[in-house]
Amino acid sequence: MTDVALLPPAASSIAARTDALFYTLVGVSAAVALLLATLAVVFCVRYRRGSRADRSRPPTDARGLEWTWTIVPMLAFVGLFAWAARDYARLTRPPADALPVYVVAKQWVWTLQHADGRREIDQLHVPLGKPVRLLMTSQDVIHSFYVPAFRIKQDVLPGRYTAIWFRPTKAGTYHLLCAEYCGTDHASMAGGVVVMPPERYSRWLAEGDRSVGMARQGQALFRERGCVGCHDARATVHAPDLRNIFGRRVFTQDGRSVVADETYLRDSILEPAKDVVAGYEPVMPSFAGQLSEQDLMALIQYLRSDLNDGGRQAPAARTPEPGTP
Ligand code: CUA
Repeated sequence: MTDVALLPPAASSIAARTDALFYTLVGVSAAVALLLATLAVVFCVRYRRGSRADRSRPPTDARGLEWTWTIVPMLAFVGLFAWAARDYARLTRPPADALPVYVVAKQWVWTLQHADGRREIDQLHVPLGKPVRLLMTSQDVIHSFYVPAFRIKQDVLPGRYTAIWFRPTKAGTYHLLCAEYCGTDHASMAGGVVVMPPERYSRWLAEGDRSVGMARQGQALFRERGCVGCHDARATVHAPDLRNIFGRRVFTQDGRSVVADETYLRDSILEPAKDVVAGYEPVMPSFAGQLSEQDLMALIQYLRSDLNDGGRQAPAARTPEPGTP
């Protein structure tokens, strides 16, 4: 689909698909509206009072017609649903190599942090052609992360994580907006996404004020906040071993099983009694109110990084954490 002035520029891998769906919906709606309007006018003229139209044998049975106007629209709508559902499902499944970016929204700014530690406000720099996954939460009310040129929009909620991903296909700067009314300055809660060629992106990342990578920050928190006292393999307290925890299936005391994703890790830190691992006592204190959203995200980045394998695997065998020596 080529750029039509009707829509913003199309700059992500999903954009052309979304536009095709949009134009199809508009086309189908226009065709149906035109058909109905034409029929209405034709019948009005043909059967107006005093016209000589043949009214002698009104039809008593129109099964064929009724089946047609039932089945055809039904197939059309089910087809559109299946098409849209496929694209939507695609948006929820990021590629495994997607770059993680952590987003915290608050009235009325977007704060973003890259895995290597570099922070941004109301701006997001990303490499051209590489998939990027955003893990997002809000510090106050509901916001919505919206990049029209990428055709992505995702609500950002307090107290939980939402995620979305995209693959930029065109270099340039695109609007980043908040699409959920969030108070007085909602309209100014905007910024830009800068898509740059990968080499320039690497340079941009290197020249920043990145102090410490997020995984290192998380590792420091893990020690400072005493997590290590119970969760270390050598600890005397009986607590689940968290090495390589990320993405693992965990069995809980009440017989359920959950995948240890970001939401599970967040909940386990803030509400430890919710998903107690089978075979363990619910003795962990809650850290609610003691860790900022950024702290939680750093802890999660640590737990999923290669720093968290207890030194069991050779570093060369795993992808190194960006920004760590
Ligand atoms: Cu944030 Cu509207």
